[in-house]
Amino acid sequence: MQVDPDELIKALRDGSNNSLKTNIHTENAVASSTPYTTRYSSKEPIPKFRIPTEGAPAEVAAQLLRDELDLDGRPNLNLASFVGTYMERQANALMAENLAKNLADADEYPALMLMHARCVSIIANLWGAKSNEKAIGSATVGSSEAIMLGGKAMQRRWQEKRKAAGKDISKPNILMGANAQVALEKFARYFDVEARILNVSEKSNFALDPEEVRKNIDENTIGVFVILGSTYTGHYEPVEEISKVLDEYEAKTGHDIPIHVDGASGGFIAPFTYAGGGQKWNFELPRVKSINTSGHKFGLVYAGLGWIIWRDQSYLPKDLIFELHYLGGTEESYTLNFSRPGAQVIGQYYNLIHLGFNGYRDIMENCLANARLLSKALEKTGWFTCVSSIHHKRTLKSAKDTVLGEGGETSADYVPGLPVVAFRFSDQFQKDYPHVKQESVSILLRAKQYIIPNYPLPPTANKIEILRVVVRESMTADLLERLIADIVAVTEKLVDSDPVDLSRLQTHPDRTRLERKRHHFKELGQQTIDRPHSGMARMGEGVHKTVC
Ligand SMILES: Cc1ncc(COP(=O)(O)O)c(C=O)c1O
Repeated sequence: MQVDPDELIKALRDGSNNSLKTNIHTENAVASSTPYTTRYSSKEPIPKFRIPTEGAPAEVAAQLLRDELDLDGRPNLNLASFVGTYMERQANALMAENLAKNLADADEYPALMLMHARCVSIIANLWGAKSNEKAIGSATVGSSEAIMLGGKAMQRRWQEKRKAAGKDISKPNILMGANAQVALEKFARYFDVEARILNVSEKSNFALDPEEVRKNIDENTIGVFVILGSTYTGHYEPVEEISKVLDEYEAKTGHDIPIHVDGASGGFIAPFTYAGGGQKWNFELPRVKSINTSGHKFGLVYAGLGWIIWRDQSYLPKDLIFELHYLGGTEESYTLNFSRPGAQVIGQYYNLIHLGFNGYRDIMENCLANARLLSKALEKTGWFTCVSSIHHKRTLKSAKDTVLGEGGETSADYVPGLPVVAFRFSDQFQKDYPHVKQESVSILLRAKQYIIPNYPLPPTANKIEILRVVVRESMTADLLERLIADIVAVTEKLVDSDPVDLSRLQTHPDRTRLERKRHHFKELGQQTIDRPHSGMARMGEGVHKTVC
């Protein structure tokens, strides 16, 4: 039997005494009372689908929305997200004072524009920009927009070269691992580029495999997306190794294939940590033409900020740059969105000058130390195995190229990567307690307010599901201890319980409608990615599933 809560309440209201509908509280009552004595307290629902003829007083509207928003998860306990949920009081104030500023209004906000230019310059330098090149870049709404721009520039440069050589430009392709975040696949789909989604394996750390790159490049490859910090497991993809594969290919064929590094998270971690990117990953490598990052992830700003930098202006085709003429002057624009939040850029600049290099280093090293502790604690229970590797000691050979931290242990002693803990039930646990579903851990933790997703790794021969915790700045040692205790408590409870299908208990305000929609898509056969045999997957039609 299906129950639609919206229909149910509507029927009860329609069926109730008519006077309730017409005799709503008077405007006087609204003016002189609390939000809970207005017409919205019991007589009428808050308008959801059509704008009401008359509004409601500010206090009332704000309180009603506040109450509804109480149903959201707590951002600090949202351990599923890479996106920042904490900024300092001073940053909050600065941003609030500048909320009204639009980054598109260059002429009106010259000081804001200067801060924007300084951020671009600071980030370009952090990424090894060369003094004999002229790095160029911009703030974006997030990494997704930045990735569209990086991909588009590679596509246009490939088209220009091919046209000049009188060659066909109808079949561009771009390479990425099956672990790619949706933004990368979106670029391919939105800009009509074939996405060559390469199989990942345990051997490649469930990330892009240089050997698969070697097998799948050709003269129509506009570029390779290499991810500094896989969304699934936090592993850094081997940018330098992939660059060498492309060097060899160029030496053989003359085709010069560029790399765009998706440093959505790692772009603000690798420059600061003792571990760095493990191997070279930034503009030190001539083949890396552009890099993106999310200011709103480990740049430590709230949602709404990304960055794209090209190593030299020659890698951003002129054709993609628009000159905007204002009353007072001319500005160049090469972003997808015109209007963008200005306050986020101010928050970024504040962080950069307030924290400085050492401040960012301390925060990133703390995140990694906490992520290591969580990984080791989970493995110590014997119940869990980590798929992420940042808690594995580095071999002497790989550590020797890195500047080791002074004194105590640092990230340089371990495998480099994002502060992400991706874990699953150990083989022994699965054998001992076959009735316990891994997803149930996620569901029971949700009841304690933690948001920790459970999802499948990108398709491989043996299907593996992982639970994933992103350790952000605000995960203190204290919270970490609580989390470990709670994961243990929840798992013990599951072990001692009879088999129950807890997935049925998963709640969401719009669950019924969403479920119906999902069911509908399933029935339409709109699956995600269709992965043929050749080590490469074509993008399928229809709705796309991914992890973020
Ligand atoms: C590797 C990677 N690329 C791109 C994105 C998209 O970034 P944004 O949410 O800033 O658009 C994410 C987000 O998690 C990511 O992890």
